[in-house]
Amino acid sequence: MENRSFVLRGDICWSDRQKKLHCAQDAYLVCENGRCAGVFDALPQGYAALPLIDHRGKLVIPGMADLHIHAPQYAFRGLGMDLELLDWLQQYAFPEEAKYNDLEYAKAAYRVFADNLRRSATTRISAFATVHLDATVLLMELLEEAGIAGYVGKVNMDREAPDELREPDAAHSAALTVEWLQAVKDKCTSIRPILTPRFLPSCSDALLEKLQEIRKGWALPVQSHLSENPGEVAWVAELFPKAAFYGDGYDRYGFFGKDAKTVMAHCVYCTEEEMQRMQDNGVFVAHCPASNMNLSSGIAPIRRFLERGIRVGLGSDVAGGESESIFRAISDAIQVSKLYWRYVDSAAAPLSFEEAFYLATLGGGEFFGDVGSFLPGYAFDAVVLEDAPLNPLNTLSLPQRLERAVYLEADGKYLREKYVDGKRVV
Ligand code: GUN
Ligand code: FE
Repeated sequence: MENRSFVLRGDICWSDRQKKLHCAQDAYLVCENGRCAGVFDALPQGYAALPLIDHRGKLVIPGMADLHIHAPQYAFRGLGMDLELLDWLQQYAFPEEAKYNDLEYAKAAYRVFADNLRRSATTRISAFATVHLDATVLLMELLEEAGIAGYVGKVNMDREAPDELREPDAAHSAALTVEWLQAVKDKCTSIRPILTPRFLPSCSDALLEKLQEIRKGWALPVQSHLSENPGEVAWVAELFPKAAFYGDGYDRYGFFGKDAKTVMAHCVYCTEEEMQRMQDNGVFVAHCPASNMNLSSGIAPIRRFLERGIRVGLGSDVAGGESESIFRAISDAIQVSKLYWRYVDSAAAPLSFEEAFYLATLGGGEFFGDVGSFLPGYAFDAVVLEDAPLNPLNTLSLPQRLERAVYLEADGKYLREKYVDGKRVV
């Protein structure tokens, strides 16, 4: 076992639970057995014997949490942005996902995905795979090898999709899900399974019922999509006339936070009633601003969620979003919040940089446990950025350096090291 106790010296920034940004110039970040022991201006004697890695002049920040990403869609990112959600699914997403029936194709495509994610600032993800068992197991193995931690879900869908992708019926989908859970039970440790009914239109009542039993039996967390696009919301109302609102359709089957840790992507069109249920049940929101722009979905009322104390993280939603960069998601989230304030609700103050950075780290990180901060006891997920080229005149304060690094997407070109659970992965 490699040494997971060491010290990083550098310019350190992190958020606390009050969403406040802390910055410590030329300070020490201590990792003890894979967990953060704290940030210190002077290294305490007790840690003086640990290996010291000198990153003076570089930024050291928590790894990014991507609360919503579709691994198979990475292959067509940046393409096909001319449609809204439901047509985009039929014409782009579903045909691409059908290809993952071919394990050779899956291997090639998922390798690119895992490799690029490894070299990003993202340390934790909650990802959708496809309906296919073998390709999903493979994706989990590749992500684990790439040093990424988090969740991957085999997608369940037994209706409203082309024959070559749709699972033939509820029994088949449920049986394959159990087979998948058994296959990965002893295989992956940092990438764990998450139950993934694609969204309500993809799942028959019979399937939702069977998945509920599986969720209980295996004590699984849940991820899905919620109130993303007007056409979708109207369709759900038609398909589930008994549900009081979209989220109530999930809640009837135990997929809405009360019975299992749950993250719902988008949440653009949540009514007061839906928000209240999310608040009562502790549902996490995965805010995916790039996707919401690309698929003309709208702008999620993030200020309203935060005011209610609903937990929010950021998602790339590749390939609704074109980039896996969560730095990009931070600046997108701030920008769309300004449009929301200007055009929709002048009482919903735009997100500050400090708040959006919190969403990308601790806000989303909480879905995975004590993750996303350098508070003592948190998982040691950290990235080191050599941002000096972005500060050539040496005029910026540390918080300004962080802000510029995020807006200029320094997570790509300037990433120098990355740690997940104290293990170096880049
Ligand atoms: N809703 C159901 N499936 C999807 C998907 O793949 N992407 C997005 N953005 N929304 C969805
Ligand atoms: Fe999505």
